Amino acid sequence: MVEEVEEPSEPGMKEPVFFSISEPENISAISLAPEMRLKTGIAEFDRTLGGGIVPGSMILIGGDPGIGKSTLILQALDRLSCKGFCSLYLSGEESAQQIKLRADRISVHSENLYVVTGTCLEEFTKKIDNQRPDVIAVDSIQTIYTNTIASAPGSVGQVREVASRLMGFAKKTGIPIFLIGHVNKEGAIAGPKVLEHMVDTVLYFEGDMGHLYRIVRSIKNRYGSTNEIGVFEMKDTGLREVGNPSSIFLDERPLNLSGSVVIPCLEGTRPLLVEIQSLVGSSPFGMPRRTSIGIDHNRISLLVAVLAKRIGLELGDQDIFVNVVGGLKVDEPAADLGIVSAMISSFLNRPVDRKLVMFGEVGLAGEIRGVSRAGLRIREAKKLGFSRCLLSKNSLNSLGSQGKMELLGLESIQDLYELLFNPDSILTSVTR
Ligand code: TYD
Ligand code: MG
Repeated sequence: MVEEVEEPSEPGMKEPVFFSISEPENISAISLAPEMRLKTGIAEFDRTLGGGIVPGSMILIGGDPGIGKSTLILQALDRLSCKGFCSLYLSGEESAQQIKLRADRISVHSENLYVVTGTCLEEFTKKIDNQRPDVIAVDSIQTIYTNTIASAPGSVGQVREVASRLMGFAKKTGIPIFLIGHVNKEGAIAGPKVLEHMVDTVLYFEGDMGHLYRIVRSIKNRYGSTNEIGVFEMKDTGLREVGNPSSIFLDERPLNLSGSVVIPCLEGTRPLLVEIQSLVGSSPFGMPRRTSIGIDHNRISLLVAVLAKRIGLELGDQDIFVNVVGGLKVDEPAADLGIVSAMISSFLNRPVDRKLVMFGEVGLAGEIRGVSRAGLRIREAKKLGFSRCLLSKNSLNSLGSQGKMELLGLESIQDLYELLFNPDSILTSVTR
């Protein structure tokens, strides 16, 4: 429970509401101005924004502390400034010197990039009036406060009020504003979550510190689709975009080894091929362990139970480790088929055909269920040179021919077992 103090604001202190009510207009008569988007030139970032920054929009960038939000925004502002757009970066967290240090490190030296430090919104808006920038970034929303309410910076009330003031400002002036927000330990409280409904676009930074890859995912976008992710690599000189993410996650895939399976999963609706690895071995201590990284461990327990019940494969006394390579998280049921295959493959120590991908949900009865966007997944796999795909019969029936990709429909995990691990099956004789 968080106490939130409602402060009655003094009349006249508040900025006017965003829009005044317009006259009713016939929808067919509304004319469209040609769309103007500012492109940062960082392709992965522009893509997550839906093709560039829309004037007057407010974009929230959320993520864990230290994941690279400030770095990304500084790089984006730098690119814009190099194109002649004046940008203003407000930091309530770091001193100008600290920002300069980071800027030097990622070689940001643009003429048109201005930095202000401080935490008071009212003072900041005065500066904006003098400077008239083309783009503004506020780092971070949790450190900025407004005089009109008395609660502490970072509290729900402040965060919301500051954001709505900035939103009003963006809409009035047409200046796009980036807001950076930390996801704090408590999760949603006073973090980016309370702002999601307000802003136009929400981007989240994912990836853990141990891995180099960072994924920027658009969760909401009023000016574009939310199916986009941008993949970056954290270098000592800042974030570098990764053009072909599917291939990097498969780069170091071991060949001819058991327990490795590739699945096309959907990140938003962008397909991404990831490798699932599993290690199953008998437990030396009589207390079998189930460890999973990147996959919900309840899912693993469920699948292990299904394997035992439906095909009599007892993994109860085995240690089971499952990992999604590259620090990714996979939480769609479509990964089930891949997880099951990786576990069986490791248990039997029999590699799976390396040109094979698979996707499908495994039900408690051992049935394989269809998942959304099968065509999209298959196309991505084809692009990366895979030639066979296992999927549910249902999905198969709803798909047309997929060119060079050989599709094999499954009804149950018995089918999967037969196909992948029965010595007489067509798939066991192919090159591994
Ligand atoms: P930062 O952008 O400050 O994170 P946030 O604003 O999300 O809190 O990035 C901080 C981390 O990134 C820090 O641990 C150091 C690392 N980093 C690099 O590895 N290379 C770089 O060039 C920079 C600027 C940061
Ligand atoms: Mg920061």
